[in-house]
Amino acid sequence: MALRQIRVDGDDILRKKCKEVKEMNERTETLIDDMLETMYDAAGVGLAAPQVGVLKRIVVIDVDYENPYDNPYVMINPVILESDGEQCGDEGCLSIPGKVAEVTRPNRVVVKFLDRDMKEVTLEATELFARAICHELDHLDGVLYKDVAEGPLRDVEAEEAMYEEEDEF
Ligand code: NI
Repeated sequence: MALRQIRVDGDDILRKKCKEVKEMNERTETLIDDMLETMYDAAGVGLAAPQVGVLKRIVVIDVDYENPYDNPYVMINPVILESDGEQCGDEGCLSIPGKVAEVTRPNRVVVKFLDRDMKEVTLEATELFARAICHELDHLDGVLYKDVAEGPLRDVEAEEAMYEEEDEF
């Protein structure tokens, strides 16, 4: 496994639409392993392939900070089938370092995807997990959270005294 460079806002690749994954191969296996390592190294709760410069529909998510590597989700060609409810809260992104903004997301989603064995999985997610899925899936279509945020981007540093930790995707 290896760390990959995280692309930051302003890089054109973050604005492109990603392509579906047709089959698993060694190259994609390595990409997934590297994405997990890169996400954990950056203390993020999610990472999408375009954030490491690869235009494939793959995201990794792990909202359980306490147990890294325990149960990360690898979602290939993910599609949201249902969404309902509403949650409003601060969001950050590893590609927009040092910033947060308030974003409204559904509080519950049902997502269908292929796991790394290319087996189809459907699962229901709520709260932070649902927020992470929405944020990461947006990346696959070139959308950044700042495009859908209600408020302006704010500096994390300026608010460090108020918040102990921010979630970054
Ligand atoms: Ni992000």
